[in-house]
Amino acid sequence: MLRIGPVQLATNLLLAPIAGYCDLAFRTVCREWGGVGLACTDLLSPQGLLRGTATSLDLAKTNDFDKPVGMQLYGSDPEIMAQGARWAVEHGATVVDINMGCPVDKVTKKDGGSALLTNLERAVAIAARVVQELERCPLSAEEWGRRLGTATHATAGIRDSAFGIRGSMQYATGASTNAEPRIPNAASPVPNAPCPVPLTCKMRLCWHTTDFESGAACSPHLARMLADVGVAGVTVHGRTTEMKFSGNVQLAGIARVVESVNGRIPVIGNGDVKEPQDAERMLRETGCDGVMIGRGALAAPWLFRQTHHYLQTGELLPDLTLDEKIGTVKRYFDLMREHRDDRYAMWQIARRISWFAKKMQARLPDGRMESIKPFREAVRTAKQPEQLYEALEAFRTGGLRGGIEDVSMTEDVA
Ligand SMILES: Cc1cc2nc3c(=O)[nH]c(=O)nc-3n(C[C@H](O)[C@H](O)[C@H](O)COP(=O)(O)O)c2cc1C
Repeated sequence: MLRIGPVQLATNLLLAPIAGYCDLAFRTVCREWGGVGLACTDLLSPQGLLRGTATSLDLAKTNDFDKPVGMQLYGSDPEIMAQGARWAVEHGATVVDINMGCPVDKVTKKDGGSALLTNLERAVAIAARVVQELERCPLSAEEWGRRLGTATHATAGIRDSAFGIRGSMQYATGASTNAEPRIPNAASPVPNAPCPVPLTCKMRLCWHTTDFESGAACSPHLARMLADVGVAGVTVHGRTTEMKFSGNVQLAGIARVVESVNGRIPVIGNGDVKEPQDAERMLRETGCDGVMIGRGALAAPWLFRQTHHYLQTGELLPDLTLDEKIGTVKRYFDLMREHRDDRYAMWQIARRISWFAKKMQARLPDGRMESIKPFREAVRTAKQPEQLYEALEAFRTGGLRGGIEDVSMTEDVA
Protein backbone atom coordinates (compact mmCIF):
# COMPACT_ATOMS: atom_id res chain seq x y z
CA MET A 1 0.00 0.00 0.00
CA LEU A 2 1.20 3.46 -0.85
CA ARG A 3 2.63 5.58 1.94
CA ILE A 4 3.57 9.23 1.54
CA GLY A 5 5.55 10.29 4.59
CA PRO A 6 3.19 9.88 7.54
CA VAL A 7 0.15 9.24 5.32
CA GLN A 8 -0.85 5.69 4.56
CA LEU A 9 -3.16 5.91 1.56
CA ALA A 10 -6.08 3.54 1.27
CA THR A 11 -5.24 2.70 -2.34
CA ASN A 12 -2.30 3.39 -4.64
CA LEU A 13 -4.40 5.36 -7.12
CA LEU A 14 -4.33 9.16 -7.27
CA LEU A 15 -6.46 11.71 -9.08
CA ALA A 16 -4.17 14.08 -11.02
CA PRO A 17 -4.32 17.84 -10.88
CA ILE A 18 -5.95 18.98 -14.14
CA ALA A 19 -6.26 22.75 -14.24
CA GLY A 20 -9.83 23.79 -14.88
CA TYR A 21 -11.25 20.28 -14.42
CA CYS A 22 -10.44 18.80 -11.01
CA ASP A 23 -12.62 21.04 -8.89
CA LEU A 24 -14.10 20.02 -5.56
CA ALA A 25 -17.26 18.72 -7.24
CA PHE A 26 -15.29 16.48 -9.57
CA ARG A 27 -13.02 15.19 -6.82
CA THR A 28 -16.13 14.40 -4.78
CA VAL A 29 -17.70 12.38 -7.58
CA CYS A 30 -14.50 10.36 -8.06
CA ARG A 31 -14.29 9.70 -4.32
CA GLU A 32 -17.93 8.67 -4.16
CA TRP A 33 -17.28 5.92 -6.65
CA GLY A 34 -14.38 4.80 -4.47
CA GLY A 35 -10.81 3.68 -5.01
CA VAL A 36 -9.20 7.14 -4.78
CA GLY A 37 -6.12 7.07 -2.54
CA LEU A 38 -5.41 10.79 -2.91
CA ALA A 39 -6.91 13.57 -5.01
CA CYS A 40 -5.22 16.84 -5.85
CA THR A 41 -6.41 20.38 -6.43
CA ASP A 42 -5.49 22.15 -9.65
CA LEU A 43 -2.28 24.11 -9.55
CA LEU A 44 -2.58 27.05 -7.18
CA SER A 45 -0.75 30.34 -7.19
CA PRO A 46 0.71 30.97 -3.72
CA GLN A 47 0.48 34.73 -4.33
CA GLY A 48 -3.20 34.33 -5.18
CA LEU A 49 -3.82 32.28 -2.03
CA LEU A 50 -1.95 34.74 0.18
CA ARG A 51 -3.79 37.71 -1.33
CA GLY A 52 -7.06 35.81 -1.04
CA THR A 53 -8.14 36.29 -4.67
CA ALA A 54 -11.52 34.75 -5.43
CA THR A 55 -10.19 32.46 -8.17
CA SER A 56 -7.46 30.99 -6.00
CA LEU A 57 -9.83 30.48 -3.08
CA ASP A 58 -12.36 28.73 -5.33
CA LEU A 59 -9.65 26.44 -6.68
CA ALA A 60 -8.45 25.61 -3.17
CA LYS A 61 -11.93 24.81 -1.84
CA THR A 62 -12.10 21.54 0.05
CA ASN A 63 -14.21 19.91 2.78
CA ASP A 64 -14.08 16.98 5.18
CA PHE A 65 -15.27 14.46 2.59
CA ASP A 66 -12.59 15.64 0.15
CA LYS A 67 -9.82 13.95 2.13
CA PRO A 68 -7.05 13.07 1.91
CA VAL A 69 -6.30 15.96 -0.45
CA GLY A 70 -3.15 17.31 -2.04
CA MET A 71 -2.84 21.03 -2.74
CA GLN A 72 -0.52 21.80 -5.62
CA LEU A 73 1.50 25.02 -5.68
CA TYR A 74 3.44 26.50 -8.56
CA GLY A 75 6.10 29.17 -8.60
CA SER A 76 9.81 29.71 -8.35
CA ASP A 77 10.42 31.78 -5.24
CA PRO A 78 11.28 29.53 -2.27
CA GLU A 79 9.99 32.00 0.31
CA ILE A 80 6.65 32.61 -1.40
CA MET A 81 6.24 28.88 -2.01
CA ALA A 82 6.92 28.26 1.70
CA GLN A 83 4.25 30.80 2.69
CA GLY A 84 1.88 29.19 0.18
CA ALA A 85 2.56 25.81 1.76
CA ARG A 86 1.76 27.21 5.19
CA TRP A 87 -1.49 28.61 3.80
CA ALA A 88 -2.30 25.16 2.36
CA VAL A 89 -1.75 23.48 5.74
CA GLU A 90 -3.92 26.09 7.43
CA HIS A 91 -6.69 25.54 4.87
CA GLY A 92 -7.11 21.78 4.71
CA ALA A 93 -4.21 20.15 2.84
CA THR A 94 -3.21 16.60 3.73
CA VAL A 95 -0.27 16.76 1.33
CA VAL A 96 1.42 19.73 -0.35
CA ASP A 97 2.68 19.25 -3.90
CA ILE A 98 5.02 21.39 -6.00
CA ASN A 99 4.40 21.57 -9.73
CA MET A 100 7.62 20.83 -11.63
CA GLY A 101 5.99 19.67 -14.83
CA CYS A 102 3.63 22.28 -16.24
CA PRO A 103 4.72 23.10 -19.83
CA VAL A 104 2.43 26.13 -20.23
CA ASP A 105 4.25 29.37 -21.12
CA LYS A 106 2.41 31.43 -18.52
CA VAL A 107 3.99 29.25 -15.82
CA THR A 108 7.41 28.44 -17.31
CA LYS A 109 8.16 32.05 -18.33
CA LYS A 110 8.10 32.88 -14.64
CA ASP A 111 10.55 30.01 -14.00
CA GLY A 112 7.89 27.76 -12.46
CA GLY A 113 6.45 24.38 -13.54
CA SER A 114 8.64 22.53 -16.00
CA ALA A 115 11.19 25.35 -16.08
CA LEU A 116 12.42 23.95 -12.76
CA LEU A 117 13.65 20.92 -14.70
CA THR A 118 16.21 23.23 -16.28
CA ASN A 119 17.32 24.65 -12.93
CA LEU A 120 17.64 21.78 -10.49
CA GLU A 121 19.37 23.90 -7.90
CA ARG A 122 16.34 26.15 -7.68
CA ALA A 123 13.94 23.20 -7.71
CA VAL A 124 15.71 21.64 -4.75
CA ALA A 125 16.02 24.97 -2.91
CA ILE A 126 12.25 25.48 -3.17
CA ALA A 127 11.55 21.96 -1.95
CA ALA A 128 13.98 22.30 0.97
CA ARG A 129 12.45 25.59 2.08
CA VAL A 130 8.91 24.21 1.82
CA VAL A 131 9.83 21.10 3.83
CA GLN A 132 11.33 23.37 6.49
CA GLU A 133 8.12 25.42 6.63
CA LEU A 134 5.88 22.35 6.80
CA GLU A 135 7.84 21.13 9.80
CA ARG A 136 6.84 24.37 11.53
CA CYS A 137 3.11 23.89 10.90
CA PRO A 138 1.91 21.47 13.54
CA LEU A 139 -1.63 20.10 13.44
CA SER A 140 -3.57 18.70 16.38
CA ALA A 141 -4.29 14.98 16.40
CA GLU A 142 -7.97 15.70 15.86
CA GLU A 143 -7.26 17.90 12.86
CA TRP A 144 -4.83 15.35 11.47
CA GLY A 145 -7.60 12.73 11.66
CA ARG A 146 -9.80 15.03 9.59
CA ARG A 147 -7.05 15.52 7.02
CA LEU A 148 -6.77 11.78 6.57
CA GLY A 149 -10.51 11.47 6.04
CA THR A 150 -10.90 8.89 8.77
CA ALA A 151 -13.77 10.70 10.51
CA THR A 152 -15.86 11.23 7.39
CA HIS A 153 -15.17 8.11 5.42
CA ALA A 154 -15.43 5.70 8.31
CA THR A 155 -18.93 6.68 9.39
CA ALA A 156 -22.20 5.36 8.09
CA GLY A 157 -23.00 8.86 6.85
CA ILE A 158 -20.97 8.13 3.77
CA ARG A 159 -23.77 5.93 2.49
CA ASP A 160 -25.88 8.98 1.93
CA SER A 161 -23.22 11.16 0.47
CA ALA A 162 -21.40 8.54 -1.49
CA PHE A 163 -22.51 5.21 -2.83
CA GLY A 164 -26.02 5.78 -1.60
CA ILE A 165 -26.27 8.90 -3.73
CA ARG A 166 -29.90 8.79 -2.71
CA GLY A 167 -32.03 11.63 -3.86
CA SER A 168 -29.34 13.48 -5.71
CA MET A 169 -28.40 10.63 -8.03
CA GLN A 170 -31.92 9.61 -8.76
CA TYR A 171 -31.10 7.75 -11.96
CA ALA A 172 -28.61 5.41 -10.41
CA THR A 173 -29.76 1.85 -10.16
CA GLY A 174 -28.08 -1.47 -9.57
CA ALA A 175 -25.20 -2.54 -7.48
CA SER A 176 -23.83 0.79 -6.35
CA THR A 177 -27.07 2.36 -5.17
CA ASN A 178 -27.59 2.22 -1.43
CA ALA A 179 -24.64 -0.13 -1.08
CA GLU A 180 -21.81 0.20 1.41
CA PRO A 181 -18.76 1.86 -0.09
CA ARG A 182 -16.77 -1.25 -0.88
CA ILE A 183 -13.56 0.57 -1.58
CA PRO A 184 -12.30 2.89 1.11
CA ASN A 185 -10.89 6.35 0.47
CA ALA A 186 -9.64 7.32 3.91
CA ALA A 187 -5.93 7.31 4.66
CA SER A 188 -4.47 6.20 7.96
CA PRO A 189 -1.64 7.68 10.00
CA VAL A 190 1.75 6.06 10.19
CA PRO A 191 2.53 5.81 13.93
CA ASN A 192 5.22 8.14 15.27
CA ALA A 193 6.00 9.64 11.86
CA PRO A 194 7.28 13.22 12.03
CA CYS A 195 6.16 16.23 9.97
CA PRO A 196 2.43 15.66 9.51
CA VAL A 197 1.87 17.34 6.17
CA PRO A 198 4.32 15.83 3.68
CA LEU A 199 5.66 17.43 0.51
CA THR A 200 5.55 15.76 -2.89
CA CYS A 201 6.77 17.04 -6.26
CA LYS A 202 5.26 16.33 -9.67
CA MET A 203 7.65 16.39 -12.62
CA ARG A 204 8.13 15.34 -16.20
CA LEU A 205 11.07 13.27 -17.44
CA CYS A 206 13.08 16.36 -18.44
CA TRP A 207 12.63 19.35 -20.74
CA HIS A 208 14.31 18.22 -24.01
CA THR A 209 13.28 14.99 -25.68
CA THR A 210 16.83 14.47 -26.96
CA ASP A 211 18.06 14.41 -23.36
CA PHE A 212 15.64 11.62 -22.57
CA GLU A 213 16.56 9.70 -25.70
CA SER A 214 20.28 9.92 -24.92
CA GLY A 215 19.74 8.71 -21.36
CA ALA A 216 20.43 12.14 -19.86
CA ALA A 217 16.97 12.96 -18.45
CA CYS A 218 17.29 14.92 -15.21
CA SER A 219 14.32 13.35 -13.40
CA PRO A 220 16.22 10.42 -11.78
CA HIS A 221 18.85 12.80 -10.40
CA LEU A 222 16.27 15.38 -9.35
CA ALA A 223 14.14 12.78 -7.54
CA ARG A 224 17.17 11.66 -5.54
CA MET A 225 18.07 15.22 -4.58
CA LEU A 226 14.48 15.90 -3.55
CA ALA A 227 14.50 12.81 -1.34
CA ASP A 228 17.70 14.14 0.26
CA VAL A 229 15.96 17.35 1.38
CA GLY A 230 12.92 15.59 2.83
CA VAL A 231 10.44 15.35 -0.05
CA ALA A 232 8.19 12.39 0.75
CA GLY A 233 7.29 11.26 -2.76
CA VAL A 234 7.50 12.19 -6.43
CA THR A 235 5.09 11.83 -9.33
CA VAL A 236 6.56 11.39 -12.79
CA HIS A 237 4.53 12.11 -15.91
CA GLY A 238 6.37 9.98 -18.45
CA ARG A 239 6.74 12.67 -21.10
CA THR A 240 9.25 15.43 -21.67
CA THR A 241 8.20 19.07 -21.59
CA GLU A 242 8.77 19.30 -25.33
CA MET A 243 6.33 16.44 -25.89
CA LYS A 244 3.57 18.33 -24.07
CA PHE A 245 0.78 15.74 -24.50
CA SER A 246 1.87 14.17 -27.78
CA GLY A 247 3.33 10.71 -28.32
CA ASN A 248 3.08 7.91 -25.82
CA VAL A 249 4.01 7.90 -22.18
CA GLN A 250 7.57 6.57 -21.75
CA LEU A 251 7.37 3.90 -19.08
CA ALA A 252 11.13 3.36 -19.29
CA GLY A 253 11.62 6.96 -18.13
CA ILE A 254 9.46 6.38 -15.06
CA ALA A 255 11.34 3.13 -14.37
CA ARG A 256 14.63 5.06 -14.31
CA VAL A 257 13.33 7.32 -11.56
CA VAL A 258 12.13 4.31 -9.57
CA GLU A 259 15.54 2.73 -9.89
CA SER A 260 17.27 5.96 -8.95
CA VAL A 261 15.45 6.55 -5.66
CA ASN A 262 15.87 2.90 -4.76
CA GLY A 263 12.87 2.69 -2.42
CA ARG A 264 13.77 5.75 -0.34
CA ILE A 265 10.56 7.52 -1.32
CA PRO A 266 7.57 6.34 -3.33
CA VAL A 267 7.40 7.10 -7.04
CA ILE A 268 4.00 7.61 -8.60
CA GLY A 269 3.78 6.93 -12.32
CA ASN A 270 1.53 9.03 -14.52
CA GLY A 271 0.39 9.22 -18.11
CA ASP A 272 -2.11 7.64 -20.48
CA VAL A 273 -3.89 5.41 -17.96
CA LYS A 274 -7.34 5.06 -19.49
CA GLU A 275 -8.25 1.51 -18.45
CA PRO A 276 -7.49 -0.64 -15.39
CA GLN A 277 -5.05 -2.72 -17.44
CA ASP A 278 -2.98 0.41 -18.23
CA ALA A 279 -2.41 0.95 -14.51
CA GLU A 280 -1.40 -2.66 -13.99
CA ARG A 281 1.07 -2.39 -16.86
CA MET A 282 2.55 0.83 -15.50
CA LEU A 283 3.06 -0.70 -12.07
CA ARG A 284 4.53 -3.89 -13.53
CA GLU A 285 6.83 -2.33 -16.11
CA THR A 286 8.15 0.58 -14.05
CA GLY A 287 8.08 -0.78 -10.49
CA CYS A 288 6.38 2.44 -9.40
CA ASP A 289 4.47 2.52 -6.12
CA GLY A 290 1.30 4.22 -7.28
CA VAL A 291 -0.48 5.44 -10.37
CA MET A 292 -1.90 8.89 -10.98
CA ILE A 293 -4.82 9.21 -13.39
CA GLY A 294 -5.88 12.42 -15.10
CA ARG A 295 -7.75 12.46 -18.42
CA GLY A 296 -8.97 8.89 -18.03
CA ALA A 297 -10.96 10.01 -15.01
CA LEU A 298 -12.53 12.93 -16.88
CA ALA A 299 -14.33 10.36 -19.01
CA ALA A 300 -14.90 7.87 -16.21
CA PRO A 301 -14.82 9.16 -12.62
CA TRP A 302 -15.45 5.53 -11.59
CA LEU A 303 -12.09 4.46 -13.09
CA PHE A 304 -10.38 4.39 -9.67
CA ARG A 305 -12.95 1.96 -8.36
CA GLN A 306 -12.67 -0.26 -11.43
CA THR A 307 -8.89 -0.12 -11.41
CA HIS A 308 -8.53 -0.82 -7.72
CA HIS A 309 -10.77 -3.85 -8.09
CA TYR A 310 -8.76 -5.07 -11.06
CA LEU A 311 -5.45 -4.61 -9.25
CA GLN A 312 -6.77 -6.50 -6.24
CA THR A 313 -8.50 -9.37 -8.01
CA GLY A 314 -7.35 -9.48 -11.63
CA GLU A 315 -11.00 -9.25 -12.66
CA LEU A 316 -12.62 -6.46 -14.60
CA LEU A 317 -15.84 -5.17 -13.10
CA PRO A 318 -18.78 -4.93 -15.50
CA ASP A 319 -19.29 -1.53 -17.08
CA LEU A 320 -21.69 0.83 -15.35
CA THR A 321 -25.26 1.01 -16.57
CA LEU A 322 -26.30 4.03 -18.59
CA ASP A 323 -28.50 5.12 -15.68
CA GLU A 324 -25.49 5.10 -13.40
CA LYS A 325 -23.44 7.11 -15.87
CA ILE A 326 -26.19 9.67 -16.32
CA GLY A 327 -26.60 9.76 -12.55
CA THR A 328 -22.90 10.53 -12.22
CA VAL A 329 -23.17 13.48 -14.62
CA LYS A 330 -26.19 14.78 -12.74
CA ARG A 331 -24.46 14.32 -9.41
CA TYR A 332 -21.45 16.26 -10.67
CA PHE A 333 -23.68 19.03 -11.97
CA ASP A 334 -25.61 19.25 -8.68
CA LEU A 335 -22.38 19.40 -6.70
CA MET A 336 -21.07 22.24 -8.84
CA ARG A 337 -24.29 24.16 -8.20
CA GLU A 338 -23.89 23.48 -4.49
CA HIS A 339 -20.18 24.33 -4.21
CA ARG A 340 -20.15 27.19 -6.71
CA ASP A 341 -23.21 28.53 -8.56
CA ASP A 342 -25.50 27.84 -11.51
CA ARG A 343 -23.42 29.91 -13.91
CA TYR A 344 -20.27 27.96 -13.15
CA ALA A 345 -22.12 24.65 -13.32
CA MET A 346 -23.63 25.45 -16.73
CA TRP A 347 -20.28 26.60 -18.13
CA GLN A 348 -18.39 23.62 -16.80
CA ILE A 349 -20.88 20.96 -17.90
CA ALA A 350 -21.01 22.43 -21.43
CA ARG A 351 -17.23 22.32 -21.85
CA ARG A 352 -16.77 18.81 -20.53
CA ILE A 353 -19.83 16.85 -21.60
CA SER A 354 -17.76 15.36 -24.46
CA TRP A 355 -15.58 13.65 -21.88
CA PHE A 356 -18.50 12.01 -20.14
CA ALA A 357 -20.18 11.26 -23.48
CA LYS A 358 -17.22 9.12 -24.56
CA LYS A 359 -18.39 6.44 -22.16
CA MET A 360 -22.11 6.83 -22.89
CA GLN A 361 -22.19 5.69 -26.48
CA ALA A 362 -23.51 2.23 -27.21
CA ARG A 363 -22.19 -0.03 -29.95
CA LEU A 364 -24.65 -0.60 -32.79
CA PRO A 365 -25.34 -4.11 -34.13
CA ASP A 366 -23.15 -3.32 -37.17
CA GLY A 367 -20.19 -2.60 -34.87
CA ARG A 368 -20.19 1.19 -35.28
CA MET A 369 -20.67 3.49 -32.31
CA GLU A 370 -24.08 5.04 -31.85
CA SER A 371 -24.05 8.78 -32.45
CA ILE A 372 -25.04 10.89 -29.46
CA LYS A 373 -24.18 14.22 -30.95
CA PRO A 374 -27.74 15.54 -30.33
CA PHE A 375 -27.27 14.78 -26.63
CA ARG A 376 -23.97 16.63 -26.44
CA GLU A 377 -25.47 19.57 -28.32
CA ALA A 378 -28.50 19.68 -26.02
CA VAL A 379 -26.20 19.84 -22.99
CA ARG A 380 -23.91 22.41 -24.56
CA THR A 381 -26.74 24.73 -25.56
CA ALA A 382 -28.77 24.41 -22.35
CA LYS A 383 -29.24 27.84 -20.81
CA GLN A 384 -30.77 26.87 -17.47
CA PRO A 385 -30.30 23.91 -15.12
CA GLU A 386 -33.83 22.70 -15.94
CA GLN A 387 -32.85 22.33 -19.60
CA LEU A 388 -29.80 20.32 -18.57
CA TYR A 389 -31.95 17.99 -16.45
CA GLU A 390 -34.40 17.64 -19.36
CA ALA A 391 -31.56 16.68 -21.71
CA LEU A 392 -30.31 14.03 -19.27
CA GLU A 393 -33.82 12.62 -18.87
CA ALA A 394 -34.46 12.63 -22.63
CA PHE A 395 -31.20 10.79 -23.21
CA ARG A 396 -31.95 8.32 -20.44
CA THR A 397 -35.26 7.43 -22.01
CA GLY A 398 -33.75 6.77 -25.44
CA GLY A 399 -33.86 10.21 -27.08
CA LEU A 400 -31.18 12.60 -28.35
CA ARG A 401 -29.43 10.00 -30.48
CA GLY A 402 -28.73 9.76 -34.19
CA GLY A 403 -27.24 12.14 -36.73
CA ILE A 404 -23.68 12.19 -37.92
CA GLU A 405 -20.98 11.50 -35.34
CA ASP A 406 -18.30 14.12 -34.95
CA VAL A 407 -15.12 12.10 -34.50
CA SER A 408 -13.21 15.15 -33.28
CA MET A 409 -15.13 14.98 -30.00
CA THR A 410 -12.58 12.57 -28.60
CA GLU A 411 -10.03 15.12 -27.42
CA ASP A 412 -11.24 18.32 -25.86
CA VAL A 413 -8.30 19.08 -23.65
CA ALA A 414 -4.65 18.63 -24.45
C1 LIG B 1 -5.97 20.38 -19.34
C2 LIG B 1 -4.89 19.85 -18.45
C3 LIG B 1 -4.55 20.56 -17.32
C4 LIG B 1 -3.53 20.09 -16.48
N1 LIG B 1 -3.23 20.76 -15.35
C5 LIG B 1 -2.25 20.32 -14.53
C6 LIG B 1 -1.95 20.98 -13.32
O1 LIG B 1 -2.60 21.96 -12.93
N2 LIG B 1 -0.93 20.49 -12.57
C7 LIG B 1 -0.20 19.40 -12.95
O2 LIG B 1 0.72 18.99 -12.24
N3 LIG B 1 -0.49 18.73 -14.07
C8 LIG B 1 -1.50 19.17 -14.86
N4 LIG B 1 -1.81 18.47 -15.98
C9 LIG B 1 -1.09 17.22 -16.28
C10 LIG B 1 -1.82 16.03 -15.64
O3 LIG B 1 -1.82 16.10 -14.24
C11 LIG B 1 -1.16 14.71 -16.07
O4 LIG B 1 0.18 14.74 -15.67
C12 LIG B 1 -1.22 14.48 -17.58
O5 LIG B 1 -2.48 14.79 -18.09
C13 LIG B 1 -0.89 13.02 -17.92
O6 LIG B 1 -1.75 12.14 -17.24
P1 LIG B 1 -3.07 11.51 -17.95
O7 LIG B 1 -2.64 10.88 -19.24
O8 LIG B 1 -3.59 10.52 -16.95
O9 LIG B 1 -4.01 12.64 -18.21
C14 LIG B 1 -2.83 18.91 -16.82
C15 LIG B 1 -3.20 18.18 -17.95
C16 LIG B 1 -4.22 18.63 -18.76
C17 LIG B 1 -4.61 17.82 -19.95
